[in-house]
Amino acid sequence: MSETTKSRATWSGKLAFVLSAAASAVGLGSMWRFPYLAAKYGGGTFLLMYFVFVFTIGLALLLLETSLGRKTGQSSIGAFKAFGKKYAFIGIFMSAVPFIIVPYYCVIGGWVTKYLFGYIVTAPEALADGGNYFSGFITSGAESIIFMLIFMALTYFIVALGVNKGIEKANLIMMPALIVMAAAVAIYALTLPGAMDGLAYYLIPDFSKFSPELIISALGQTFFTLSLAMGIMVTYGSYLQKSTKLTSSVSQIAGTTFGVSLLAGLMIVPATFAALGSGDAVAQNSGPSLMFIILPQVFENLGGAATIIGVVFFVLVLFAALTSSLSLVETCTSIISDGAGWSRKRSLIVTIVYVTLMGVLVNLGYSSLSFIQPMGEGSSILDLLDFISNSVMMPIAALLTCVFVGWIIKPQTLIDEVRVSARFRLANVWSVVIKYICACDARGYSDRVCRSDHGSVQHVADQLPARLRGLLASFPFAYLAIGARRAGLFFVFL
Ligand code: PHE
Repeated sequence: MSETTKSRATWSGKLAFVLSAAASAVGLGSMWRFPYLAAKYGGGTFLLMYFVFVFTIGLALLLLETSLGRKTGQSSIGAFKAFGKKYAFIGIFMSAVPFIIVPYYCVIGGWVTKYLFGYIVTAPEALADGGNYFSGFITSGAESIIFMLIFMALTYFIVALGVNKGIEKANLIMMPALIVMAAAVAIYALTLPGAMDGLAYYLIPDFSKFSPELIISALGQTFFTLSLAMGIMVTYGSYLQKSTKLTSSVSQIAGTTFGVSLLAGLMIVPATFAALGSGDAVAQNSGPSLMFIILPQVFENLGGAATIIGVVFFVLVLFAALTSSLSLVETCTSIISDGAGWSRKRSLIVTIVYVTLMGVLVNLGYSSLSFIQPMGEGSSILDLLDFISNSVMMPIAALLTCVFVGWIIKPQTLIDEVRVSARFRLANVWSVVIKYICACDARGYSDRVCRSDHGSVQHVADQLPARLRGLLASFPFAYLAIGARRAGLFFVFL
């Protein structure tokens, strides 16, 4: 980053910003979470809803966060405080989210590193043994900690090089490599026998598959993949020069994220469909373990190509995970440095110590600390952190932000900021979406009710009567429709 002032720096250009924000966005969320959710919720139907949310709510919130960051030149706490001390709590609340996500993100990053290593050194059959390899590894304690530490060390090393020399450069290499590799694997996957039926399942919406759960999961996925509601995009916006066009930047960020998720689905869903034979089988087998248990079995069926496909696939997932963990560690560092007034170096050291210790704790949650089952039978510390951040804190943070901008500082404040360097023809639509979008946050509560990504969360859901579940789940959708109608967007949401 080119130091324009002593304390604060700016991206070296629009490309660097778009690339870094897209790199933060494209991560395990696109590579690991999206394909299993798409597989689980009927392929094309989920894809369609995700598309709609990314380009409406996702885009609106991206613009909100980046323009707030640029206007104030501060990361999240300072950005809210700039409008009055009493609003700082929103920033503080939001800033806690990356601190909760980063340790468990690195644990999963460690799993990916292990699989890459596994494909390099062992025969592909060893990884395709129906789940023993995976559970043996995550419960191993020492071994899984070592792989997590390797993943963390790569992240810390790049962040320590600085935003310009480390993060921007790493993204400049890893992002294009990732897209090229993903496209190559996707094309290969589509040539497999039976993949065309799988492609139809993945691309063509089946409207009978619509459900409140599907809608809520697609909305949650939008928040998670676009790295929203946790201060990251505020921080990234704060590094922006006034001359950068925000509207086109956020469209490019959202477009890239959607594109890579689409590709990830193309790599995984049709091939899994071909291997398992039907959409229902795919849906039944998909869950968080899709990438680590089912996919190695799909690869094994490829015979001689299994090793090379396995290696290329996990390299690209590793790249995606790394570019996101970079952004998480960078954000934590910048929050500490802005908040405590410490140097970048000191703040980074504190972040590293914290992330490493917490990561070890999360990891031990599968071995010596596995008696801690905070979300019910069989759940882990990782489940708890994922739940607190994604299902509780992020929805509340998004709600607070929308109320703050929509009703307190007023959308016009940020519209003026966007207009410093871009035409913003949809300003009216945007402000209505921001004012009413808050409602989507009911997602947080209904998500808690409907979500079953980790069996344990479903456990909470099971305790509520079905009627109540349905009611809660449909609430955000109804509210959205009202807001959308006012924005003249009714048909889009339908
Ligand atoms: N957006 C990232 C992904 O999809 C996850 C992430 C969340 C990264 C928050 C940074 C911050 O994997």
